Amino acid sequence: MNLQFPKEFWWGAATSGPQTEGRFKKQHDNVFDYDFDHFQERFWGAIGPDTASNFFNDFRDDIELMKAAGLNSVRTSIQWSRLIDDLELGTLNEKAVEFYNAVIDEFLTHGIRPVINLHHFDLPVELLHKYGGWESRHVVDLYADFAGKCFELFSDRVSDWFTFNEPMVVVECGYLLGFHYPDVVDGKRAVQVAYHLQLASSLAIKKFRTINQNPAGQIGIILNLTPAYPASSHHADVFAAEMADLWQNRLFLDASVKGEFPSVLTEMLSAENALWKATDEDLSAIRQYKIDVLGVNYYHPSRIQEPEFSSDSLAQDFRPDKFYAPYNKRGVRMNADRGWEIHPQTVYEIAKRIQKDYENLPWFISENGMGVANEQRFADNDGVIQDDYRIQFTTEHLYWLHKAISEGANCFGYHVWTPIDCWSWRNSYKNRYGLIALDIHTQVKTLKKSAHWFKSLSTAGVLEV
Ligand code: NOJ
Repeated sequence: MNLQFPKEFWWGAATSGPQTEGRFKKQHDNVFDYDFDHFQERFWGAIGPDTASNFFNDFRDDIELMKAAGLNSVRTSIQWSRLIDDLELGTLNEKAVEFYNAVIDEFLTHGIRPVINLHHFDLPVELLHKYGGWESRHVVDLYADFAGKCFELFSDRVSDWFTFNEPMVVVECGYLLGFHYPDVVDGKRAVQVAYHLQLASSLAIKKFRTINQNPAGQIGIILNLTPAYPASSHHADVFAAEMADLWQNRLFLDASVKGEFPSVLTEMLSAENALWKATDEDLSAIRQYKIDVLGVNYYHPSRIQEPEFSSDSLAQDFRPDKFYAPYNKRGVRMNADRGWEIHPQTVYEIAKRIQKDYENLPWFISENGMGVANEQRFADNDGVIQDDYRIQFTTEHLYWLHKAISEGANCFGYHVWTPIDCWSWRNSYKNRYGLIALDIHTQVKTLKKSAHWFKSLSTAGVLEV
């Protein structure tokens, strides 16, 4: 069966500055640079972001390879910690301006649409140490000023902008689960961070509305949406899944698309005496400055059951995630290397939900991909990785996306995570997601089988299933 996708579909891939560029000539450290310098043992293989895939020096060759993989659009990010010299005054670093200009121009020369994101977990660490990072209202203003600078400098050529990638990861990993620096575990602080991230996104959009120079310009946010499936139809599990959905999905989704946080969530937080501190003026900015487009990162669904309440857990301080408990469902398909469930049909359900509950706004899959460890074991005699599993994974997700589009979903693109194997935070290079393989010792980059497959797919705009 041949499935035809819409004309002008974005066939692309996503990456980010901190995961590819390396720290060469960087003005400031971001939170992950700092984390690596101080707690190397937390990173797989003790390998940090120092060189990464050397995009800072190799971007011309890398973009050539991306072209060879058939990508017609690529997302990367501008690093705040590279672009701005004086974080308070917002003065520009000229080398960085030159670098990002050259990157954007190189994409355009190759007929690749540059999609630019402004925050990919990479807050300059000084702002965390000095002000408390995203807990601080002042940092929100500094971020909006940084975003404004990016629009001034690059929106003559870049039309597609995103304010944040996966803000919920910053909240959960940094302030609830102890996975990312600053490794705080504090529900009330997590709530304030979530609110400030949303406000920062809205205030960046406000800047965009006056500074953008591009008539075709559009701006959005990238959210990791993980539909929450209840463990059973028992009302306690169903309630728990609704709570997970409210916190993990709807907080940013409702505020970004509709300008309002879900009232059930704010009432619940108020009842716990844990609602964020907000001014009327800021709430009205959130109401006014909504997104034009949405990016959806989807890897796996979340399976949710009723949490076990003990007198201990009830006595603990407030946590917004205390109303639900994620669990691993037995008997489902798994990507064993990553420990993530494979459930392609969820893409269809996300699309339907956006169509029904979110004004059918334009959106795209901004990340989807399969992380596999030790991929060299699949290399053929010419050293080309035969990643048929990735082709199958992508095909299955695209199948469900196509079905949704044929039923009216307003989806304009699909981005694989990621073009070239990249450094992935504390997982470092453990799992490889790229269409293009990276040898971290020699920096040799080689197209995998999936890259050749992706090129035929994007050239024809037709998926064979
Ligand atoms: C989502 C994040 O946006 C990205 O930075 C990360 O590398 C991938 N997930 C894979 O874990």
